[in-house]
Amino acid sequence: VRPAPPVSSPPALARLDLQPLGRRISVGAGSTVLAAAQSAGAGIIAICGGSGKCGTCRVRLVRGTLTPPTDAEVSVLGAGALADGMRLACQARLAGDAEVDVPAGSVSAPQRLALEGEGVAVVLDPAVEAVDVRLVSPGPGDLRSDAARLLDELADRRHDDVAAALEVLRSLPPRLRNQGWAGRAVVSRPVRGAPELRALLPPGATPLGLAIDLGTTKVAAYLVSLESGEVLGRSGTMNPQIALGEDVLSRIARANSSATSAARLQAGAASSIDSLAVELCGRTRCPPDRIVDAVVVGNTAMHHLLTGLPVRQLGEAPHVPAASAALEVLASELGLQRLGSASCYLPPVIAGFVGADHVAMLLACGMAETRATMLALDIGTNTEISLVHRGRLRSCSTASGPAFEGAHIGEGMRAAPGAIEHVRYLDGRFSVQTIGDLAPIGLCGSGVLDAVAEARRAGALTERGSLARDHRLVSSTPDGPACVLVEGKNAGHGRDIVLRRADVNEIQLAKGAIRAGIDVLLADAGLAAGDLDEVVVAGAFGTYLDLDSAMAIGMLPRLPHGAYRQVGNGAGQGAVQLLLSRRQRVLAQQLAREANYVELTVRRDFADRFVKAMHL
Ligand code: FES
Repeated sequence: VRPAPPVSSPPALARLDLQPLGRRISVGAGSTVLAAAQSAGAGIIAICGGSGKCGTCRVRLVRGTLTPPTDAEVSVLGAGALADGMRLACQARLAGDAEVDVPAGSVSAPQRLALEGEGVAVVLDPAVEAVDVRLVSPGPGDLRSDAARLLDELADRRHDDVAAALEVLRSLPPRLRNQGWAGRAVVSRPVRGAPELRALLPPGATPLGLAIDLGTTKVAAYLVSLESGEVLGRSGTMNPQIALGEDVLSRIARANSSATSAARLQAGAASSIDSLAVELCGRTRCPPDRIVDAVVVGNTAMHHLLTGLPVRQLGEAPHVPAASAALEVLASELGLQRLGSASCYLPPVIAGFVGADHVAMLLACGMAETRATMLALDIGTNTEISLVHRGRLRSCSTASGPAFEGAHIGEGMRAAPGAIEHVRYLDGRFSVQTIGDLAPIGLCGSGVLDAVAEARRAGALTERGSLARDHRLVSSTPDGPACVLVEGKNAGHGRDIVLRRADVNEIQLAKGAIRAGIDVLLADAGLAAGDLDEVVVAGAFGTYLDLDSAMAIGMLPRLPHGAYRQVGNGAGQGAVQLLLSRRQRVLAQQLAREANYVELTVRRDFADRFVKAMHL
């Protein structure tokens, strides 16, 4: 490997913009992008330590000047990726100011929060509007009620026929008097139907929105200014429903067992939203009653459990939702005590296992209006997949199991400090990168995926997923053969960290299910993988998986890196957009109505494709 060439007569300083991390730094020209990023505290994965061998430090040059590609870049990246602007951060040196894009897969775990919030831009057009009002106080000659006084004022300002819910009417008298008969009347702007008075805020107060991604495991919340569109704060918590069932099916069974259990599941979801609202408002010093609109997205089971819709039919074939259209209700109807009279919008669902969270993700990545042929995956215990081609949307859902969350894997763990997040086979041995650069103690999802891909590349695994017993990296253990990734002397807990046949099998099942789902959708549209213009991968695991590994084991189709976009929490981004844009709500309805749901279990070709896709 030839070292990166020095720059001749470089200017003293060069500016480097690292996007979307939002870091802008001045460094000595001639520094490698990796060294410059590290000096700014931006963690880029660099398993081989900067020798140009591992390919984990990929970045894309957006504008500016870097030194010409080194031999190492040509050999690791190939001409196609280089032509696409892809570079190795450890090899490319600054030859002037430059802006580079750091793909999610190249970012080390502690930096990942910074990447949240990516998505297509929307025009600010929220579902509520704040109208400044100043009222004449009542007197002997004017005995109108408080509500009539306010609604008359709104009518004078061209907001006719505004209705007000009992909950809002209750709050008006003290507010009007405390605020000296002035304030900001928040009026809804429905796409259809009459506008409603949502709240009367103090003069000058900013109306806020709360976007919630109600996941089976985690709940994420975003507090948003409805006037500027700015995300003021974000937070997350575990879904307390976990105490009543680990996964969707066990929670459905629990809800079916008794009305009390169903009520506990509903209350658990509502309380997690309430506590996130309180936390975010406390952190941003905004009173919770400034929240006037909320959007909740979740899979169909979470949607039904929160809204109190029956779930029995979701758990039984053919798994149909109780209701699929968008819902708009008062937050208090969902038991959201901290959001009072705020309205709560729940986008439509597509099917029993393709929920409103997937609809939100599709909106966030621009799938609703694209002319391109695009595939989008949200990888989790259940993976939702959608394909749009010539404006026609096809969606399916496939059971991919918990292996990518580190579950059912011998040495598996969640993506926490000490977890191996990346593995590379270099110079005849495995090198690993851990979260937080700590001594390794286990494998998280992206680490297991890498381990399987790299063990296969090293020849320690056969195409069928068996361990090659005579391979020098495979040892005999009392539990059978195992591929040693990290020797005990280098591990945080002193034991070997190994990959076993059973682990490989879990990954084969998961990736086989995902790939078979992709292939069925492509076949249904009469397409081959090479016809795809773009592939969007969302979800916690999907965003940080190594694309090379995923392509190497056949989980994702082999396409140029530039065709892939890893987007973070697409559902959360979509929920924020649904708060900010009425148009997104119209598009959501359109998407769900026009989606063609493909039920994989009744497709005769699914089983064959699944078996084929299990091979490594
Ligand atoms: S750190 Fe750049 S190729 Fe390994």
